[in-house]
Amino acid sequence: CSAASPSPDGFLACLRAKSLPSELVHTQSSGNFTHVLASSIRNAKFFTNATARPLCIVTPTDASHVQAAVLCGRGQGVRLRVRSGGHDYEGLSYRSARPSSEAFAVVDLGANLRAVRVNRLESTAWVDSGATIGELYYAIAKSDSRLAFPAGECPTIGVGGHLSGGGVGMMMRKHGLSSDKVLDATLVNADGELLDRAGMGEDLFWAIRGGGGGSFGIVLSWKVQLVHVPSTVVAFNIAKTVEQGAVDILTRWQDIAPCLPTDITLRVIVQGQQAMFQALYLGGCGSLVAMMDEQFPELGMTSADCQAMSWVQSAATPFLSFGGNGTLEEALLNRTTGLSRSNKVMSDYVRRAISKAAWEDIFPWFAKAGAGFILLEPHGGFMGSVPAAATPYPHRNGVLYVMQYLVSWPQEGGDGGTAATAWIEGLYELMGQHVSKNPRRAYVNFRDLDIGQNDDEAGGTFEGGEAWGERYFVGNYRRLAAVKAAVDPTNYFSNEQSIPPLR
Ligand code: FDA
Repeated sequence: CSAASPSPDGFLACLRAKSLPSELVHTQSSGNFTHVLASSIRNAKFFTNATARPLCIVTPTDASHVQAAVLCGRGQGVRLRVRSGGHDYEGLSYRSARPSSEAFAVVDLGANLRAVRVNRLESTAWVDSGATIGELYYAIAKSDSRLAFPAGECPTIGVGGHLSGGGVGMMMRKHGLSSDKVLDATLVNADGELLDRAGMGEDLFWAIRGGGGGSFGIVLSWKVQLVHVPSTVVAFNIAKTVEQGAVDILTRWQDIAPCLPTDITLRVIVQGQQAMFQALYLGGCGSLVAMMDEQFPELGMTSADCQAMSWVQSAATPFLSFGGNGTLEEALLNRTTGLSRSNKVMSDYVRRAISKAAWEDIFPWFAKAGAGFILLEPHGGFMGSVPAAATPYPHRNGVLYVMQYLVSWPQEGGDGGTAATAWIEGLYELMGQHVSKNPRRAYVNFRDLDIGQNDDEAGGTFEGGEAWGERYFVGNYRRLAAVKAAVDPTNYFSNEQSIPPLR
């Protein structure tokens, strides 16, 4: 049971008593505390003097250190936040949005636990949670250039959080989410036990593959199924301005993109007065041009747009910008983060195509002060073939695309994000009439505390979490809460949007 009141000193003494090497425990008075804390923070607004800081950061080198942290944390009333890649849009892996009374420590897996072991013959890999998806992509390609893994586009994303919440990317229409490809995992539960799939049982194994990070325990590693890709793939970027017919083409795209053959993912970024169509095709230029000519002639794609490359090169060019001329190693293995910009993200799912007239009303929004962009990623294909309850990610059959809204602003100078925040909130309100309803859905990996938070510091109640839980998980929210009640009834692993136990 948790101690009645938090004891930070007791927590540190307990870690010492369990022989955790002192160089792996970084307290606020340690010389490198700020450096370790900042090492994977992506959102500058959560690295200010006003941000609640952890009382210490533990950087484990093996499972026993994580077990010790859980046992000491529980015994001394100190909550743990686990960080893998630190990309949580609300910073929940390293900061608390609750009143300053919450005592918490961070277990940072990204510092030392990031091995990748590829089994080429089995087409599988064991990857530690602290690895980035770039490190995973790199290790896979080094082992076999015709193997790959379906995951997101930004190489610095951590495996731990990404696989916990799903993992949307350019191959999901053919192969599904990252979490759909998990075969086994190791996890430290709220009792400090180290469990694999057989040990944790199928309910908990179901919950950790999409139910969002930070609720069920600390996942140390994942066994994933790798997928086969051709030695050469093709990507393209085609921009259309409003004058060039962006509104018409985007309107058509909504019906076409989710129904194209699964070898192609064609997504769109709307920014300024332009729609940028970006594709990854698991095939050659000739067949791609023929397919686009037949199915989406409005886009005007030609062989001049084809950019042939290996799959891992396509994964190394974030947002398919083709701009970088660094090495593959620099693009995939660099974990350095910039702390110059703050951001805010929201999300929606679209099940009925938005009309041309509506897009005509929406486009001027992108010319306003503080404007950001929206990213539209088509589902269909494999995504539509998975029953909504098969994994916690419920946004499957009937979803045309997921829409991510994103704004960013400089941390120093400017208006502190006032215009950007007003912009995204206004657009989100405007879009409400066009997107999924009852509930209006959201993607847990595009974390957004504005859709709701747990209603008390003890971790919240099932009913209090329904506001946001049903938006992320729809009918799966109840099952997630039932799993939580079974594996962590005292709600030790809790944060502003962790799954509360079903009482
Ligand atoms: P972080 O370490 O911040 O953890 C996120 C959450 O999971 C926290 O609640 C944390 O406590 C918990 N957690 C972390 N490790 C855990 C573990 N080992 N066990 C249990 N819980 C754990 N998404 C997407 O689907 N497709 C995409 O293309 C992108 N692109 C993208 C780009 C950029 C620049 C950002 C900032 C984010 C994305 N994302 C994304 C969203 C991303 O998938 C999401 O933020 C992930 O949760 C990030 O995982 P990290 O390990 O980096 O985050």
